[in-house]
Amino acid sequence: MAGEMGHANLRNPGNEPPPAEKCPAPALCPWWHRVLLTAGALGHLVLLVLVVLRNVSVFQGFLGLSDSRVEIQARNQTERCIFPSLVRYFCQPQGQSPPAPVGCKLCPQDWQLRGERCYWLSKESGNWTRGRKSCKDQGSELVVLKNETEMENVESVTGRRPRSVWVGLRSRQKEWTWVDDTPYDLHRFGVLQEPDKGFCGTLKGKSLEVDGCDSDHKWVCQKAPFQLSSPTVGKLG
Ligand SMILES: *[C@@H]1O[C@H](CO)[C@@H](O)[C@H](O)[C@H]1NC(C)=O
Ligand SMILES: *[C@@H]1O[C@H](CO)[C@@H](O)[C@H](O)[C@H]1NC(C)=O
Ligand SMILES: *[C@@H]1O[C@H](CO)[C@@H](O)[C@H](O)[C@H]1NC(C)=O
Repeated sequence: MAGEMGHANLRNPGNEPPPAEKCPAPALCPWWHRVLLTAGALGHLVLLVLVVLRNVSVFQGFLGLSDSRVEIQARNQTERCIFPSLVRYFCQPQGQSPPAPVGCKLCPQDWQLRGERCYWLSKESGNWTRGRKSCKDQGSELVVLKNETEMENVESVTGRRPRSVWVGLRSRQKEWTWVDDTPYDLHRFGVLQEPDKGFCGTLKGKSLEVDGCDSDHKWVCQKAPFQLSSPTVGKLG
């Protein structure tokens, strides 16, 4: 015992209490202390990350919400104010009875609505290819006739004086074929001359005829009308 004390005093000449009395031996406490510290630090880090993430998502949510609110308000504004005035302006019921449908069909400026289609008669004339390109450039196609009603509708657009206008009919693989790839119905529209390469269809009055595709004619384009119908009609349908 005395030998051990002497040894300790030798190492600690200033008579200070041995370090073991000031603080428990370093090896005694830190095993849990360090774990706690580490856990605490990790916890802080996790919290920090969570808080940052949450703030970011709240921020984004706020932005998104306000965006869609603005959108809804704009849409409300359109639906509440502009839409009914469009319907009032373009879809006036003609006469009192029968009650006009709430929806209506619109054609672009200079186009004419006939039945279920918008039609446009060109001002210039040119070959069949040029006519077709002109229609495509306007998001439409050369006229395709399905029945006599449509033929009469197109006739009313081309004017009283019968003149030949290009329609979307051409000879293709020895068949008369419409530009929507449906075959020509000769029982409905009558027999045309033998289909031959370089020949295209014209409409003259109420009859379909054939001319060389290089000839000069005006042409008639068709496209589907824009359906303007009230929101309630849209919701019901
Ligand atoms: C939009 O209009 C509907 C009713 O038409 C209303 O319930 C809604 O609160 C409006 N929304 C906004 C953002 O004004
Ligand atoms: C003619 O065809 C159009 C479109 O395919 C159709 O809507 C219409 O009902 C038809 N008319 C007749 C009389 O067959
Ligand atoms: C059709 O006319 C255009 C110019 O209007 C011309 O460039 C083209 O070669 C003609 N096509 C045919 C097949 O004649």
